[in-house]
Amino acid sequence: MRTTEKYTGEQEKIRQEGCIERAEEYVKALSIRLGRRPTCCVTTFGCQMNARDSEKLAGILERAGYELTEDESADFVIFNTCTVRDNANQRVYGRLGHLNSLKKKNPHMKIALCGCMMQEKAVIEKIQKSYGFVDLIFGTHNIYKFAELLVRMFEADRMVVDIWEDTDQIVENLPVERKYPFKSGINIMFGCNNFCSYCIVPYVRGRERSRNPEDIINEIKKMAEEGVVEVMLLGQNVNSYGKNLAAPMSFAQLLREVEKIDGIKRIRFMTSHPKDLSDELIQVMKESKKICRHLHLPLQSGSTRILKAMNRRYTKEQYLALAEKIRKEIPDIAITTDIIVGFPGEEPADVDETIDVVKKVQYDNAFTFIYSKRTGTPAAAMENQVPEEVVKEGFDRLLKVVQDTARQRVSLLEGQVQEALVEGVNQQERGLLTGRLSNNTIVHFPGDARLIGQIVPVYLEQCHGFYYIGKLHERP
Ligand code: 5AD
Ligand code: SF4
Repeated sequence: MRTTEKYTGEQEKIRQEGCIERAEEYVKALSIRLGRRPTCCVTTFGCQMNARDSEKLAGILERAGYELTEDESADFVIFNTCTVRDNANQRVYGRLGHLNSLKKKNPHMKIALCGCMMQEKAVIEKIQKSYGFVDLIFGTHNIYKFAELLVRMFEADRMVVDIWEDTDQIVENLPVERKYPFKSGINIMFGCNNFCSYCIVPYVRGRERSRNPEDIINEIKKMAEEGVVEVMLLGQNVNSYGKNLAAPMSFAQLLREVEKIDGIKRIRFMTSHPKDLSDELIQVMKESKKICRHLHLPLQSGSTRILKAMNRRYTKEQYLALAEKIRKEIPDIAITTDIIVGFPGEEPADVDETIDVVKKVQYDNAFTFIYSKRTGTPAAAMENQVPEEVVKEGFDRLLKVVQDTARQRVSLLEGQVQEALVEGVNQQERGLLTGRLSNNTIVHFPGDARLIGQIVPVYLEQCHGFYYIGKLHERP
């Protein structure tokens, strides 16, 4: 249901700025009542896109006068939810129960829910029925209206629900509060048109929409001026970037433009669909000094029969040929992947095919998921759902191969010196810093916290499975 008439992106931005000022008044009044600055907590479930959306939510909350905290007993708590697999939904319900007990102690506490899970009708019904203490619910399409919704929440005496079925609106230049000062995600497109038969994303994130290249470039330039050295270009399927722009542009061309921006030293991107990965992209990656040596290339299954039922639009052989081409052109690249086990109709022989691909491609890492039935997707209506024990058997078999190959791949760098972006202090062992190599491998090494945000050479002394222990390499 739409609650506002349609404005242009610029008009909408001005409206939202006005709403932030109004929200500020409410937060000010609350702070007088509490005798301190009210706190807020943004909790993210799910993917990098959600993490980026959460930075936008945090930016608006901070501008409205809240102090950000990671403590869920805050005065305002928002869950930015994910619904790609059912266990993500279950986690949200579990955590909501906990928020309810906190709110009983602090009746002024406000609780909001947003993100992909809220785009599902059944979820909204369940929350209205069983979680009446929630103050605000909105979805993925109207997140840019968060400031306005905050005002409505302060003014309402019951749950505010605002869910849209779709949008073509992209509002630029709203405030954001980055989690890291030195690296940032940046949306280059929203939505997905692929309709893989197991996936709920096209239904909850809507149709594919690319941002204008000028807006992307300007945003990255501004980030670079603010000290960002690494950007991650985000989209459900970055390889089809630009196809629906008034002046079409390929993803590879966009990367060329990003490469030219002074101050940006590293470029990453997520996620690539194998069917759309062009030779032009491989070439741009090969020639680039800034694009990281890492490609996330979801396989989902190694069985051509299952891939067809998944509507992935490539065969096992086409995927293998693509991976081989990439490895030949860019030998030092790390390839990672996503795999689903237990898709309807999958048999042990299909899992064997998947294992065969894992062995041939030699992934540096693979995220393995048990198939989760998502209401409304074509796969949910398929009759031949796989029994749990069969799924478990296939999953364990696959996981073992994935872990063995990944360990072998990651250990190949032992004894080398590589550049690492220092991301923070190690959580387990103080005195150690955590850095990330171009190929996405993590290295821990002794060093001073003042190095955080810098790219430094590190000697990769010892491989511990999926990460390294190293030491700073003195420049000669
Ligand atoms: N069940 C299990 N895994 C899924 N994914 C997407 N939909 C489902 C589902 N219904 C996985 C895919 C995708 C990753 C983000 O989540 O592997 O690449
Ligand atoms: Fe889902 Fe497929 Fe789109 Fe990825 S490409 S978001 S798996 S539909």
